[in-house]
Amino acid sequence: MKALIITRLGGPEVLELRDAPDPVPGVGEELVRVEAAGVNFADTLAASGGYPGTPKPPLVAGREFSGTRVCNGERVMGYAQWGAFADLIAARSNLLWPVPQGWSAAEGAAFPVNFFTAYLAYWKAGVVNPTLPTSGEGWGNRHCKAPARVLIHAVAGGVGTAAVQIGKLLGVEMYGTSSSDEKLERVKQLGLQYAINYKKQDYVEAIKDLTHGKGVDVVFEMLGGEHTAKSVRCLGDFGRVICYGSATGQRGQIDVGSLYAKGASVHGLWLTYLSANRGLMQQAWEQLSGWIQQCHLRPVIGAVLPMSKAGDAYRLLLERRNFGKVVLTNK
Ligand SMILES: NC(=O)c1ccc[n+]([C@@H]2O[C@H](COP(=O)([O-])OP(=O)(O)OC[C@H]3O[C@@H](n4cnc5c(N)ncnc54)[C@H](OP(=O)(O)O)[C@@H]3O)[C@@H](O)[C@H]2O)c1
Repeated sequence: MKALIITRLGGPEVLELRDAPDPVPGVGEELVRVEAAGVNFADTLAASGGYPGTPKPPLVAGREFSGTRVCNGERVMGYAQWGAFADLIAARSNLLWPVPQGWSAAEGAAFPVNFFTAYLAYWKAGVVNPTLPTSGEGWGNRHCKAPARVLIHAVAGGVGTAAVQIGKLLGVEMYGTSSSDEKLERVKQLGLQYAINYKKQDYVEAIKDLTHGKGVDVVFEMLGGEHTAKSVRCLGDFGRVICYGSATGQRGQIDVGSLYAKGASVHGLWLTYLSANRGLMQQAWEQLSGWIQQCHLRPVIGAVLPMSKAGDAYRLLLERRNFGKVVLTNK
């Protein structure tokens, strides 16, 4: 098969489309013929050596995909840690979900990481509780706290645009940051109420002004470095910062003492870890698929490129030129 190989640690230049042996499914795995695959910021980190748990190169890149089950031709979308940027992947059967009716292969490939991460961020925020029983009434009774004010960093990105769609359903008041007015205008069409261009204004000050000094209840923080402490400064009483990334390349810095005054807290979120929790993933999927059936969720795709242009796809994310999801296709 053809596969996109991380040949050595480095930037997008280390990616090469090469012939590779077909994967052999292990216990709990099955073969999926990949049609499209979603590009995540984590893929750039896996190539540069900054993603925990990634084996040493050479390694097939890519952590989410859509395609067809080799055993029966059923259309599925799935989540993995690597191996998705290839003709075939040996995927974990419990991390495969049917591609929703009417969705393209690219849309299926753009779903798993962004929507599970965004949904679980609302869970860590205490806004939803997927472990509550539904008793047949849809999402309403899993929605345990509302309304909340949520600040979403990188709101125009993959996870960001998913968080806005879910936040709209939950009745959350959303504030979002981005480097570009154009991107922010597009996210407003999805339901973002308050847009903050961090190149033009300090977002801590903007949040203070927009909330009349009250602050937000939650920050979705995936920048790291100084932004973890700045995000704490955006909180009101008992607020939570949900930490799930470090796009700046720096570990989040925070003085724990700064949490005392507001009774604030910082929570970690890592889909790699949570995806091993079958019960949680199943409950999250029940909720997300319910919304999909009601046509409330649809991945936002900013660019679709052939697998041979994977380096350009990585650069879109690294240079902040992406909107929503960047997808690679095998066609
Ligand atoms: N913990 C988890 O389980 C988990 C799961 C998924 C994603 N993540 C993390 O969430 C973050 C977003 O992931 P994603 O795949 O959805 O990417 P993305 O948001 O689609 O792309 C990254 C965006 O981050 C913004 N950004 C701000 N500062 C940046 C910087 N110094 N360098 C590069 N980009 C910067 C840029 O948007 P603007 O130009 O609009 O600012 C850029 O477009 C990443 O940190 C990722 O590692 C974590």
